[in-house]
Amino acid sequence: MAGKQAPGAQRWVPDRVTPQRLRAGVDQCRGCELYENATHGVPGRGPRDAPLMVVGEQPGDQEDKAGEAFVGPAGKLLDRALAAAGIDPESVYRTNAVKHFRWERGRRGNRLHKGPTRTHVAACGPWLVAELDMVQPQGVVLLGATAAQSVYGSDFRITESRGVRLDWPDEIRGSSVVQPPDWALATMHPSAVLRSRQREDDLARLVEDLERAAGLLIP
Ligand code: URA
Ligand code: SF4
Repeated sequence: MAGKQAPGAQRWVPDRVTPQRLRAGVDQCRGCELYENATHGVPGRGPRDAPLMVVGEQPGDQEDKAGEAFVGPAGKLLDRALAAAGIDPESVYRTNAVKHFRWERGRRGNRLHKGPTRTHVAACGPWLVAELDMVQPQGVVLLGATAAQSVYGSDFRITESRGVRLDWPDEIRGSSVVQPPDWALATMHPSAVLRSRQREDDLARLVEDLERAAGLLIP
């Protein structure tokens, strides 16, 4: 897309969101240029009445090919961490701040993850709002800076506000959610745990944060 204009996803968001319409809408979305080099638009997955929503950054290589969120290595680690925190991964709605895979060609011809820009996150925001309206979770766990900033804006620092209960803001990017979650909690992204040199320590902290989130859920 010349000049990288990003009209935003709103035009593609159906009035009444169902999982089927979400999948079709995300796949057809032209709200920014990221659809051009991706295989699928990847919607969230999980029960539509899930008490907990987990938001990551963007689909990875495997998610792009499968059209399903969190099915690759980061997703496997996330599910392990959720289970270790006493949360059934299948009870969680798992999604991403951005719905198409952004990547660049590596030296060996492989596709290398390239994080989305603020423009992409802003353009894709209406899909996250649509998912929040559909699922109406009690609480939201934000994995990594991109997800956290998609809700709290670009001044949000995970290092300062990690692992604590945060009030849900009145608006995210100018849109209010029909039935806002009670809280959000930001933590490290499982991909960062996978890359970390203190992997076991970071995994333990991720599990601790997820335990805290589990403790905030009202049964
Ligand atoms: N990382 C993410 O943030 N989301 C996925 O779906 C996979 C990897
Ligand atoms: Fe639409 Fe989001 Fe995909 Fe951009 S990344 S085309 S806004 S679904």
